Amino acid sequence: MSEGLVTVSYIASTILFILSLGGLSNPETSRRGNAYGVAGMAIAILATLLGPKVSSVVPVIMAMAIGGSVGIIAAQRVQMTQMPELVALMHSLVGLAAVLIGYTSYLDSSIEFVGVEKTIHEVEIYIGIFIGAVTFSGSVMAFGKLSGRISGKPLMLPGRHVINLVGLLAVLWFCNLFLNVESSGSGMLFLLVMTGLALAFGIHMVMAIGGADMPVVVSMLNSYSGWAASATGFMLSNDLLIVTGALVGSSGAILSYIMCRAMNRNFFSVIAGGFGTAGGTTASSEAPQGEVQPVSAEETAELLRNASKVIIVPGYGMAVAQAQHTVFEITKLLRERGVDVHFAIHPVAGRMPGHMNVLLAEAKVPYDIVAEMDEINDEFPNTDLSMVIGANDIVNPAAQDDPGSPIAGMPVLEVWKAKTSIVMKRSMASGYAGVDNPLFYKENNRMLFGDAKKMLDEVLTVLRAG
Ligand code: TAP
Repeated sequence: MSEGLVTVSYIASTILFILSLGGLSNPETSRRGNAYGVAGMAIAILATLLGPKVSSVVPVIMAMAIGGSVGIIAAQRVQMTQMPELVALMHSLVGLAAVLIGYTSYLDSSIEFVGVEKTIHEVEIYIGIFIGAVTFSGSVMAFGKLSGRISGKPLMLPGRHVINLVGLLAVLWFCNLFLNVESSGSGMLFLLVMTGLALAFGIHMVMAIGGADMPVVVSMLNSYSGWAASATGFMLSNDLLIVTGALVGSSGAILSYIMCRAMNRNFFSVIAGGFGTAGGTTASSEAPQGEVQPVSAEETAELLRNASKVIIVPGYGMAVAQAQHTVFEITKLLRERGVDVHFAIHPVAGRMPGHMNVLLAEAKVPYDIVAEMDEINDEFPNTDLSMVIGANDIVNPAAQDDPGSPIAGMPVLEVWKAKTSIVMKRSMASGYAGVDNPLFYKENNRMLFGDAKKMLDEVLTVLRAG
């Protein structure tokens, strides 16, 4: 395949990637968006393999077969709730690839650059390895935290901002030394020292971030992995990699911003770290007081039967219990009986962006009854029953009422404003942010204790019988 045809194929791939991102922004078009992405990547791989830069396709195909098999097995085995861990692990591989390609480019003696071109090429290598190493170690740490292998508690070293600043200055100092070495190839030592600093920086950055901010960190690392890929594109003079990396980098940055807004957090305070605990214990200024009022599945069914408007709020627990299909069956039954049923989705419900939308789509819940937080929050006062299924932090009134709460200021779904609310969970345990929830003690709230799937199956049986 000629260079010209490769360029045309790369442009086609770029357009397909942009269409893919556009499609993925809406549940109704997301399948199409995914198909565009697959087509774009297939064209990109074929054009690269058949292009003039690849002399032997066999080793590339063998590497793709091994990597692809590992990917297929991992994707089949992973639970939906473990997806952020898998994504973090994938980002670490992008970072590692950028580091390895950086070293290979430096050691490659087949192309001799001189003058300004040499400096530009070496800056590309230095920056590429730096971003790659930060992404790699940061993502491995994020994987450890998300999978519970490392404590979710923020590690607050004394003078940590000074440590980061000194590290950054050292990286710039070594860059200067690296660019001014006498003979080509003798800058290896500076590259190695900088890689060590970058690895330590990535570890320190993510270790300082508490459990409650991990979603933002995962999307931030997603953004870094994009910039690492883009830097790799510069090293390899591959336009498609530059553009694709920039698309991933900027969409990850936008997603981080949107999530920060949804949690009422400032992006820079997230990076500075220290928010959120390992979970389980209250970090609130005052533990909520009062009695909880448990209900049975029969009483829940009775409340549903007598309601004319119901809002269902799904959370992480619905994903754990895999209760979405039963939720759909209940919704169908209620709608057939004339009940107005809607779903309210918080932007950080569950453990990854769009987690609840994916589960509801899988259970075939119609899109037109699924509303985002901003669209539906004003509806709770006109609602007979709000049913919270395995959600906790996203319906915590302390975010509004308790300025001392670690989640103070985070927008929440105001389920307590409905005539009655029911919270379905197994115990009084706290959610991801590790804070107590005063909702459970409110006079109009009832608790349906038990596994969400089991309890909803019982509710469905009673509803069907009635
Ligand atoms: P959480 O606050 O984590 O609460 C989930 C609740 O589900 C828990 O309190 C748990 O209580 C209950 N639960 C667990 N398994 C259950 C089961 N089998 N049946 C019934 N209930 C079960 O979830 P949320 O309200 O969805 O809020 C999400 C939180 O995760 C936020 O703090 C958010 O910042 C964070 N986060 C979000 C993301 C993204 S991007 N969405 C990523 C990472 C973290 P029991 O143990 O008592 O059952």
